[in-house]
Amino acid sequence: MRVVTDLNELRRARLALTEPLGFVPTMGYLHEGHLSLVQRAKEECASVIISVFVNPAQFGPHEDFERYPRTLDHDLHMLKDLNPDLVWAPSVGTIYPEGFQTYINVERMSLPLEGTVRPGHFRGVATVVAKLFNQVQPQYAYFGQKDAQQLTVIRRMALDLNMPVHIVACPIIREADGLAMSSRNGYLNPNERRAAVILHQALEAARLAYNRGERQPETLKSAMRKIILNEPLARIDYVSISRPETLVELDVLGPNALFSLAVRIGSTRLIDNFLLEAGRWQTGRLSSGSLSYAAGH
Ligand code: PAJ
Repeated sequence: MRVVTDLNELRRARLALTEPLGFVPTMGYLHEGHLSLVQRAKEECASVIISVFVNPAQFGPHEDFERYPRTLDHDLHMLKDLNPDLVWAPSVGTIYPEGFQTYINVERMSLPLEGTVRPGHFRGVATVVAKLFNQVQPQYAYFGQKDAQQLTVIRRMALDLNMPVHIVACPIIREADGLAMSSRNGYLNPNERRAAVILHQALEAARLAYNRGERQPETLKSAMRKIILNEPLARIDYVSISRPETLVELDVLGPNALFSLAVRIGSTRLIDNFLLEAGRWQTGRLSSGSLSYAAGH
């Protein structure tokens, strides 16, 4: 596993890799969710590159860019068994050189949900992912369903800009109690960690109500809100049932719907979702637990 920080070196190393090439962009502080993407890329591609870059352009002025954990040694240790061909770990100066001023804005679908609370976030995400695609030139790129809106934005960008890359969605990996794995779970104290399960419980309540025949989006959203309001440490940012391809809120429920929510537990903002796809639930899967080093994340 080779770690590369220089763009010319990346380009040279890239030429020597066998295709198809799979790519997994990350911000590091890896957990089993990230590893599941690398695993999938390994299964489907001849070579795999993972990037580790904490992207300043996607953090708002009051967000956690400065304190976001940078743990490259730990990340390399986590990747040892999966052994991707190359780890691309550029500096901020390599990605955003002096005078940088070209941004990508995926317009409408960047605005609702996360966009209401994090203006400019998806402009930063789309820009860095487009740059990483140009640098790495993968045939396949792997993203987690955990960040459902990010996935929608990236798919739209790749389509709109004719990027020659297949975007592959991978299931959400969850802790044993259902909490979606996230780098931000590390910010939770023990009480908050216990409360954080409320996101999964709310989605589960909506799923059960749906399975009992409830089809009114407003009723299903109320069921989710009710569960979250029972938890004193939780504050709702949004509870949504939207069309997965456009993220427009649904008045009537069809066979495809994204049930998503964002909740603050103390000062930590968590997101989660269940996807209804052709009438079937995609809720993710529990951690295999086989990765002992994933403990604590
Ligand atoms: P990061 O938060 O590090 O996530 C990297 C990838 O891991 C994303 O595709 C995310 O959806 C996926 N992921 C995170 N938690 C997951 C889980 N529990 N199960 C499955 N997949 C999970 O997302 C970003 O970084 C950045 O925005 C990035 C795309 C790298 C651009 O900077």
